[in-house]
Amino acid sequence: MKLTEAKFVQSASDYRKSPKPLLPEYAFIGRSNVGKSSLINMLTANKNLAKTSQTPGKTQLINHFIVNNSWFLVDLPGYGFARAPKAEREKWDKMIWDYLSNRENLMCVFVLIDIRIEPQTVDLNFIDALGERGIPFYLIFTKADKVGKVTADENIDLFKKTMLMTWSKVPPYFVTSSERKIGREELLKAIEDLNQS
Ligand code: GTP
Ligand code: MG
Repeated sequence: MKLTEAKFVQSASDYRKSPKPLLPEYAFIGRSNVGKSSLINMLTANKNLAKTSQTPGKTQLINHFIVNNSWFLVDLPGYGFARAPKAEREKWDKMIWDYLSNRENLMCVFVLIDIRIEPQTVDLNFIDALGERGIPFYLIFTKADKVGKVTADENIDLFKKTMLMTWSKVPPYFVTSSERKIGREELLKAIEDLNQS
């Protein structure tokens, strides 16, 4: 797919205030700091579109972007940010799950996993919760520039094996680096295919 235009639409604290659900939509979710906002910027080739930070907890609202005037990309707050106050974490969790459970035009959720570390309980629990709700998702292993190929392959393998202890199959997955612009074409192709499905 050729990406011709990507624009910020709005930020909302409640999915009910999201744009009308008239176009296919894709949301990026994952632990705080895993690289959701950076990946949106890499995909849209606009390093200033979504706000990024070295400090976890940067994205705090449901942010809608419109691509090629034909589909929405959504940047969400992260989960599992242990240092955030409990009340804040609970507010973000509710915002995220209300959105994920009710957004009718949501075609697929992309769950971002840090490729540098072994499978994290918080990620596995999040994926299980998506499964329980029947929400379709793909996986994206992020920050591939930060590890060598051997470690990357080992961690992906371990993640797949861990998932297969409770799941019957592993969903499609992608390996990306926003820093080095790895995985862009593959992701855009996947979205294009989903748009046409
Ligand atoms: P929250 O909004 O806080 O949940 O974080 P986020 O998941 O949106 O992460 P964000 O995109 O803000 O990136 C967090 C940090 O990781 C920033 O310092 C980014 O520069 C860095 N980062 C993101 N993606 C990559 C990557 O592919 N490679 C490297 N080396 N750094 C990355
Ligand atoms: Mg963010």
